[in-house]
Amino acid sequence: MKFFIDTANLKHIGEAKDLGILAGVTTNPSLMAKEGISGDEAIRGHYEKICQLVEGDVSAEVLSVSYGDMIKEGEKLASIHPNIVVKIPMIKDGVKALKYFSDKGIRTNCTLVFSAGQALLAAKAGARYVSPFLGRLDDISTDGLSLIEDIRIIYDNYLYETEILAASIRHPMHIIECAKIGVDVITSPLTPILNLLNHPLTEKGLAQFLSDAKKLS
Ligand code: E4P
Repeated sequence: MKFFIDTANLKHIGEAKDLGILAGVTTNPSLMAKEGISGDEAIRGHYEKICQLVEGDVSAEVLSVSYGDMIKEGEKLASIHPNIVVKIPMIKDGVKALKYFSDKGIRTNCTLVFSAGQALLAAKAGARYVSPFLGRLDDISTDGLSLIEDIRIIYDNYLYETEILAASIRHPMHIIECAKIGVDVITSPLTPILNLLNHPLTEKGLAQFLSDAKKLS
């Protein structure tokens, strides 16, 4: 299972990269806005910085919602760097755009996926990644993990090459449950990734080892 970071914050991306386990980055318009990035040039420049920082796929989301505009915008985004993956919303024109980009050999990430039917359409249209939003389903008392299990079964039934990119991760247990299901990628903010490190017995054991080590010299 690959680890992507879900942020446009360069410091967080750098910190995850320093761990040595980072395989990619996902962003969305809200995450870009949070960093104060606005306007075509600034957006392009920010994606360039992210691509220089990380060796791996960087999802860049289109802001348009009509087929023609998504194609124009997606082609521009894809021209920024070979690692850019064009992120397309799961809407009717989006499915058409996924197929267009897939036919052209441009990789896509189908975002805002909340049902197995949507994930099936994304795979049929040739999306490279499908992003089911786990936390947002949990937020409305719907079982996000059970959706991800269903998508895994469907994709395995037909050997679809679309990778399941579990998104909207809120805490370390989401990451662990996704690994048990066998998703291809998780994308998470920095904190849930770092929280995987923590265990009180590790801290206690290390303190004991360090204290005993003093007796050795
Ligand atoms: C996915 O690519 C999205 O950027 C993201 O995971 C959304 O997460 P949120 O529900 O925490 O906003």
